Amino acid sequence: MRSIVVPLPGRDRSYRIVVEPGLRHHLGELLAQVLPGRRLWLVSDVRVGRLYGQEVAEQLRQQGFQAALLTVPRGEGSKSWPVLARLIRILLDQGADRGSALMALGGGVVGDLTGFLAAVFMRGLPVVQVPTTLLAMVDAAIGGKTAINIPAGKNLVGAFHQPRLVVIDPEFLLTLPARERRNGLAEVVKTGFIRDAGLLELLAGPGRRLLRDPGLKNRDLLTEIIARAAAIKAEVVAADEQEGDLRRVLNFGHTLGHALEKASRFRLKHGEAVAVGMAAALDFSVTLTGLSPEEAHRGRELLASMGLPTQPPPLPKDEILRALKVDKKKQGERLVFILLRRLGDAVVYPAVPGALIAAWLDEHAGG
Ligand SMILES: NC(=O)c1ccc[n+]([C@@H]2O[C@H](COP(=O)([O-])OP(=O)(O)OC[C@H]3O[C@@H](n4cnc5c(N)ncnc54)[C@H](O)[C@@H]3O)[C@@H](O)[C@H]2O)c1
Ligand SMILES: [Zn+2]
Repeated sequence: MRSIVVPLPGRDRSYRIVVEPGLRHHLGELLAQVLPGRRLWLVSDVRVGRLYGQEVAEQLRQQGFQAALLTVPRGEGSKSWPVLARLIRILLDQGADRGSALMALGGGVVGDLTGFLAAVFMRGLPVVQVPTTLLAMVDAAIGGKTAINIPAGKNLVGAFHQPRLVVIDPEFLLTLPARERRNGLAEVVKTGFIRDAGLLELLAGPGRRLLRDPGLKNRDLLTEIIARAAAIKAEVVAADEQEGDLRRVLNFGHTLGHALEKASRFRLKHGEAVAVGMAAALDFSVTLTGLSPEEAHRGRELLASMGLPTQPPPLPKDEILRALKVDKKKQGERLVFILLRRLGDAVVYPAVPGALIAAWLDEHAGG
């Protein structure tokens, strides 16, 4: 079993991320080491609940836990006040108290919602994250950011609430649809770009087909890739728990990525939009931070080989710029981007000229 420690200041706040195929069968032993009591509520969305929830809850009962499963509808809509309120009501009806704990069993939606529920219910319950999407394994489940959405925007209400433990079982990916897997792959490639050139080599070489292959034949390599990406996220958030400059490098590809998601009205998935954003950031890095054209080319090839887009879909350029808050009339405008000096070495670059972005979109966007 691979074990990554996330060291955090303060008593009992540090926690482990454990990674191994089949770990979902050993949750009882793992949880017993970190939870104060034996009363546990699992939260899943209906799909993950149907695939794994009952099985996991039943096993936990056999291992001495009093475990109940709660499910919420699939999708981003469940990160909301009404769903949160319903869960709080159920927890109270079922007698949850300060000695109880929560488990998020699902993707990033379930992880964010359950994490926030754990942060606010009776001023805070322990939570264990058991991510079932690749995106949640390497990103959402690690770092303690939790949130729900409100009409004014995504993730606008939330809290920092660190988990007691993160349990990653790569076998969950066997049932994950290909598009969801690619979505997470973008974040895996991102961690390589910002901090681990060796991971990029692994992805371009032996790992090339791995995460697209539904059989997941080479589990050791899969485990290695997930553990490396998770370790990078852990390292960055441990060094910078509350969103300072260091943590911002995790936003590589996200400045333009978020704008594309928004301009496409979320037809583009997060990972796809970030992939395009990373392709653009590679080009800007050649112009502004000395990345070699050869490295930028290798980076783009890697994204394409994973089935990720490197060109924006046909969207009106004006809408993308509006989403970036670049005013066409103010040509002098400058934006903060994360750029690379080398593959594996990211910097916060405060002044990417709006005109450079507009020119890139002219060259690459169909709209
Ligand atoms: N807290 C953070 O630091 C952080 C970081 C990144 C993203 N996020 C959040 O994560 C969310 C996106 O997470 P996501 O991409 O995991 O989406 P998701 O949770 O909606 O999961 C995607 C879909 O996959 C299904 N699914 C999950 N696991 C499965 C499995 N093993 N087999 C089959 N189907 C499965 C789900 O039912 C869902 O339909 C967003 O809300 C985003 O804001 C949070
Ligand atoms: Zn992201």
